[in-house]
Amino acid sequence: MSITFKKVEHVYSENTPFSYHALKGVDLNIKTGSMTALIGHTGSGKSTLIQHINALLLPTSGEIQIEDVMITATNKPESLKPLRKKAGLVFQFPEYQLFEETILKDIIFGPKNFGIEESEAEIIAKKVLKLVGLDESYLEKSPFDLSGGQKRRVAIAGILAMDPDILILDEPTAGLDPQGAKEMLNLFKKINRSGKTIIIVSHDMNQVLEYCDDVIVMSNGKVERHESVDEIFKETEYLSSLSIDLPTITSFILQLNKHGFKIDSSIKDVDQLVKEIGGQL
Ligand SMILES: Nc1ncnc2c1ncn2[C@@H]1O[C@H](COP(=O)(O)OP(=O)(O)O)[C@@H](O)[C@H]1O
Ligand SMILES: [Mg+2]
Repeated sequence: MSITFKKVEHVYSENTPFSYHALKGVDLNIKTGSMTALIGHTGSGKSTLIQHINALLLPTSGEIQIEDVMITATNKPESLKPLRKKAGLVFQFPEYQLFEETILKDIIFGPKNFGIEESEAEIIAKKVLKLVGLDESYLEKSPFDLSGGQKRRVAIAGILAMDPDILILDEPTAGLDPQGAKEMLNLFKKINRSGKTIIIVSHDMNQVLEYCDDVIVMSNGKVERHESVDEIFKETEYLSSLSIDLPTITSFILQLNKHGFKIDSSIKDVDQLVKEIGGQL
């Protein structure tokens, strides 16, 4: 299965005074089974792009192919229902995703909608709630009484309950403390290793370096780069022109190299770096 965009344009509120051209000629091919980061300024079009992958937004022109499903400007909503199960999207703002009276009802909504019996859906709900780090006492609580980070966990659980092949996460660790963010990323990595494709919007380059394989850079509605993590962080001037910070370890290596060291800037972990420095002293 692959995710392909061909000449995709998206114009919000076309032919009105509020019209906004948010995606411009996007061509993309995201590898099946990869964990791909989507980075770029606020307003560069990241959220708009990923909402095309589960057809929450339709392109104004161009086409998107998700496995055997083709998405174009003229798709009828019914024809895209199977896609909602295949590609699960966790919104940037989890409040937009939660709407039931209890967390249990919220999580079983998706699976029930795709024909799973209520009793089985409840078993799934308990399982996914545990995966996102919440215990069963939450099942009967209202999602609206939760903190921002807990709402995010529940929204993620609701999508995991549908067991999508493609998991799309829009800034999933915003509102989580560092430990919570780490737990969540480890969970996504585990899901990725089980064979699922993960697409994650992130502003945290340390996370991108540690967890992702490939990186897509967006700027002003265009995809400007699509490279491996090792390659992208070599483009220091380009990233700096977009005010994107380097991962801490990468920027440390560059500083060391300015002072005479010759260290491979694609090193990702501290132990390896320490060894390398030791060897060169
Ligand atoms: N519903 C909408 N109507 C009009 N413009 C929108 C709408 N949603 C987003 N935009 C605009 O499209 C651009 C891209 O937004 P978005 O995809 O949310 O960017 P990002 O996720 O990278 O911050 C922004 O300039 C934003 O203001
Ligand atoms: Mg966004």
